[in-house]
Amino acid sequence: MKSPKRIAITGAAGQIGYALVFRIANGDLLGPDQPIILHLLDLPHASGALRGISMELEDCAFPLLDKVVISDDPHVAFRDVDIAILVGAQPRKKGMERIDLLEANASIFVEQGRALNAVANRSVKVLVVGNPANTNALIAMTAAPDLDRSCFSAMIRLDQNRAQAMLASHLDKPVDSISQLIVWGNHSPTMFADYRFALVYGHSVPFVIQNEQWNREVFIKTVAQRGTAIIEARGQSSAASAANAALDHMRDWVCGSNDRWVSMALPSDGSYDIEEGIFFGVPTICRSGSIERIRDLDINAFARERLQLAQDELRQERDAIRHLLV
Ligand code: NAI
Repeated sequence: MKSPKRIAITGAAGQIGYALVFRIANGDLLGPDQPIILHLLDLPHASGALRGISMELEDCAFPLLDKVVISDDPHVAFRDVDIAILVGAQPRKKGMERIDLLEANASIFVEQGRALNAVANRSVKVLVVGNPANTNALIAMTAAPDLDRSCFSAMIRLDQNRAQAMLASHLDKPVDSISQLIVWGNHSPTMFADYRFALVYGHSVPFVIQNEQWNREVFIKTVAQRGTAIIEARGQSSAASAANAALDHMRDWVCGSNDRWVSMALPSDGSYDIEEGIFFGVPTICRSGSIERIRDLDINAFARERLQLAQDELRQERDAIRHLLV
C-alpha cells in the first residue's frame, strides 16, 4: 500500500469545497490506489460546517481516506501537504470596489503563501481557484520565496472545459473528439478561447467551421460570459463544474495529460511576449508531475490583440496590489 498523500483545500466549507472534497476522497484526483489525508481549512465562523463535512466524509466510508485534518490555521492546514487547492476567497460584497476586493484577497493569499512557504512539502503543487485567481496566485507565490515558482498555478481549466463543450456541441461531435484547444490569459472576460490549432478527429477545426464571424462574435464571447450566465440561471456561481475543473487541472499535473494540450495559468517565462512573472493561461502538456509549455505557436494580429488585452488587465491587477508583493 502506498503512503498517503496530503491534500489541502481552503474554503472547504464553501460551495466549491463541498463539491470537491468528496470526489477527492473517492479517488477521482489521484486514482484508486492512492490513500489520502485531507486537510480542510476555512475561517473560524465555518468550524461547525467543517466538522459536519468531516462527519459526512467519515460516513461515506471511503476506503482511500486515511484521515481528515480540519483547521482555521493555515500553518496547521498546510503542514507537509503535497497538494494545495486554494479555493477560499473573499466574495465581492455590496459597495465594494474592485480594488477593495483585490486588497481583501491579497491579504488572504499573502498569509497563505507564507504558511505554504513555512510548512508545506518542498515540492507541493498549488492550484489557486479563488478569484481573482491569476493575481492571487502571483501573491501567494511571491509570499513563498523558498518554494520553486514551478509549484504554483492558477485555474483556467473551467474556461477550457466550457470552450471544449461548446465547440463539441457546435460541431455535433463528442467532447473528447476535440484536442489542442487553448484558453489564454486571465480567468475573466478578457480570456481568449482559441481554436486556431484545435483538431476534431484529427481535422483542423477552423477548416471544418470556416466561419470567423461565429468565432469572434459568438464563440469567444459566449465562453467568456459563461460564468455570468450560470449566476443568472442558478442564482449562485459555478460550483460543481469549478470543482471538476480543479480536479482535471490537478490530475493532469500529477498524473500527466497523456499528450493532450491543457491550459494552465502559470507564471510567465516571457514566452509569447507576455511579461515575466504574471500568471497567464497558456497551453501545456503535463508529464508525470512536470508541466511543459507548448511554445512557438503562431500569434496572428487578432490573437496578439487578445493576448495584449489580457496582459493589460493582469498588469493593472498586479499594480493595484504591488505594495503587498513582498
Ligand atoms: P463560497 O463563498 O461558497 O465559499 C468560499 C469559502 O471560503 C467560504 O466557506 C469562506 O468561509 C472561505 N474563506 C474565505 N476566506 C478564507 C480564508 N482566508 N481562509 C480559508 N477559507 C476562507 O465560494 P465558492 O463558490 O466556493 O467560490 C470560491 C472562490 O472560487 C470564489 O473566489 C469564486 O469567485 C472562485 N471561483 C473561481 C473559478 C475559476 O475558474 N478560477 C470558478 C468559480 C469560482
